[in-house]
Amino acid sequence: MSWSKDSWRKYKILQQPTYVNQDELKEIENKLSSLPPLVFAGEARRLKEELKRVCEGKAFLLQGGDCAESFSNFSANNIRDMFKVMLQMAIVLTFGGSMPIVKVGRVAGQFAKPRSSDFEEINGVSLPSYRGDIINGFEFSQNARVPDAKRMIDAYYQSASTMNLLRAFSRGGLADLHQVHKWNLGFTKRAEINEKYAELTDSLSKTLAFMQACGMTSENTPILSQTSFYTSHEALLLPYEEALTREDSLSGEWYDCSAHMLWIGERTRGVDDAHVHFLSGVKNPVGVKIGPSASADDIKKIAKILNPQNEAGRLNIIIRMGADKIGDKLPNLLKELKSEGLNIVYSIDPMHGNTTKATNGYKTREFGKILSEVRSFFEISRSEGVYPGGIHLEMTGQDVTECTGGAFNVTEQSLKERYETQCDPRLNADQALELAFLVADFLKKA
Ligand code: PEP
Ligand code: CO
Repeated sequence: MSWSKDSWRKYKILQQPTYVNQDELKEIENKLSSLPPLVFAGEARRLKEELKRVCEGKAFLLQGGDCAESFSNFSANNIRDMFKVMLQMAIVLTFGGSMPIVKVGRVAGQFAKPRSSDFEEINGVSLPSYRGDIINGFEFSQNARVPDAKRMIDAYYQSASTMNLLRAFSRGGLADLHQVHKWNLGFTKRAEINEKYAELTDSLSKTLAFMQACGMTSENTPILSQTSFYTSHEALLLPYEEALTREDSLSGEWYDCSAHMLWIGERTRGVDDAHVHFLSGVKNPVGVKIGPSASADDIKKIAKILNPQNEAGRLNIIIRMGADKIGDKLPNLLKELKSEGLNIVYSIDPMHGNTTKATNGYKTREFGKILSEVRSFFEISRSEGVYPGGIHLEMTGQDVTECTGGAFNVTEQSLKERYETQCDPRLNADQALELAFLVADFLKKA
């Protein structure tokens, strides 16, 4: 079947809003199509090169950010703090694995959410589910929940502004390795994590001083003062993705220029469906979430459609099975895929298979379960002779209380204190850093 940026419209599609005003939708799509791309094809190609190194076992992928970005929590401080935690984690992982860390944010476009149920019920009132700020409003009212196409324009401009800030942070000095002490967010509650981090940054500072004595400074060695930070989101809302898909004038190939990397969620990865078809035609690196129900055959079919040339760095399989299921499912899966010789970057999302409801009703995740799924991922990869290439997290630079456990031990009772997510519970900055130290240990062994 031939591909064009709108050929997905002929396929079965799940998890889409129904816009009442189709003329307005068309107008918005046209408007978006005329707006500048958010990323350039060359950048997506560079990320693919970096992911190729991950595929070869020479680098590690750190992907993380909000479950859902929101219009109301949009602020420079939130973006800065998320960026800083990612840098801190990258330092910890670099030391652990002695290899480059490829940093990819769930940011600057991570707005649309798949939902397990079309309706949400509170106190006997049933309303259409919230599907992310790019589609409808979070407020529990009939009005807010009506899909509004104009929200795509707001999401675009917020993404552009976020992207601009991230580029400034990456190049303008904040990411300078000499600033490593200043990336600390100041609320590391557990002294031992603080100390471990201080130990790393001290040894890094000594190395930098040594390099400076040899004549390598931030001024003459840009790699010390700048970093690459890529963006990604779930390519769920296809009218938005189509409108930002552009033909690269250099290569004549199509790129979805809404982000460097796009992924397909667990609920929309049907091989004959619109989402897989749409991403098959763009050249960005792409991810696919894989839950416990997927078979090796499903993944082989996905790989055939999304990566027919078996290009290393193109396809990321994101395992999200849950701590209690991964041990049953992953070993055979890896065994079969390995024998096919498929070039795949495997990463672990230990969030989405470990969501539970606390006794007081909060949607939460237990740090112990998250860690346990990550550990299993590393152990199983090792015994199957497959490289565990990365980690995919829902996290924030803020001191929220959304996931229980961790060194500071967030309890079910304290969830209500700073529960700020509009969708899934995220690791707070301390929990994210703590997890990075534990992953660094696994990486060392791997
Ligand atoms: C997500 O990453 O926010 C998500 C919805 O994941 P999944 O498709 O794996 O459930
Ligand atoms: Co989520």
